[in-house]
Amino acid sequence: MTIVEEIKKLKEEKDAVILAHYYVRPEVQEIADYIGDSFYLSKVATKLKEQTIVFCGVSFMGESAKILNPEKTVLMPDMNADCPMAHMAEIETIKKVRSEYDDLAVVCYINSTAALKEYSDVCVTSANAVKIVKELPQKNIFFIPDRNLAHYVASQVPEKNFVYNNGFCPTHERIEAEDVANVKAQHPDAQIVAHGECQESILLMADYVGSTSGIINYVTESDCQEFIVCTEEGVGYKLKTQNPDKTFYYPDRLPVCPNMKKNTLEKILHVLKTGENEVHVSDALRENSKKPLEKMLELAA
Ligand code: 13P
Ligand code: SF4
Repeated sequence: MTIVEEIKKLKEEKDAVILAHYYVRPEVQEIADYIGDSFYLSKVATKLKEQTIVFCGVSFMGESAKILNPEKTVLMPDMNADCPMAHMAEIETIKKVRSEYDDLAVVCYINSTAALKEYSDVCVTSANAVKIVKELPQKNIFFIPDRNLAHYVASQVPEKNFVYNNGFCPTHERIEAEDVANVKAQHPDAQIVAHGECQESILLMADYVGSTSGIINYVTESDCQEFIVCTEEGVGYKLKTQNPDKTFYYPDRLPVCPNMKKNTLEKILHVLKTGENEVHVSDALRENSKKPLEKMLELAA
């Protein structure tokens, strides 16, 4: 039996379902039951009938799935697949900013630990941040942890006053404006599509800014034939399979998230066999961190 056949057989036997982010390896995307961006996957996670979720992504994704589905078993193929940005904010800073403003919402990018979500009012993803921030009654927005996405959302919602935090995604931060400009000089007809986690200098050059699925949808619907892709290279698998006639270019310093790539077929098979790497969230943490996640699902609906 091949490893893929073994995974499929065990999945049936164990009543398991595989969720995967667009940034994981192509062979993992191929065996997933659901593939998507963070927002899609968080919605899907609330509607599954299977008892076990194997989450091929990074820790905050598995943690969010567990928080929203406490009765389910959530397994991560690799417990070390963590998002560095998820830790780039401090609870003390949240408390301090709260004490400085009466009319404040703490808006927490879903790329954050449950401990940070616990101190936040609402979660957002790159797919719904603009919509949700616009709808919030508060004038002042403390956006954690990502400074780049915060600046982008602020540019789209000028009526709000933003307080910034200094977190960032190391993978998107690697993308340099000079590098993108060089690719554009070689392919002047190509459109630049960028994830909101990129630096402002990239977003200002971009023809489209959005989430991972926003980029895929934009490219698929566009009449343009060439694109310079400013996000994690894993998205290229879906871009190419969905748009075989279009051409994609990437910055020379290819944006690769080493944590997303820790998800392999061998590790998926291992956790399905052994039940190892189960995600646990304490009851108290789950109760408090569930509120901003549920508020996101309600406001973004
Ligand atoms: P989206 O899935 O919301 O596009 O975010 C990208 C990301 O960095 C996930 O870790
Ligand atoms: Fe975190 Fe960036 Fe990797 Fe996404 S791509 S998991 S934000 S480090």
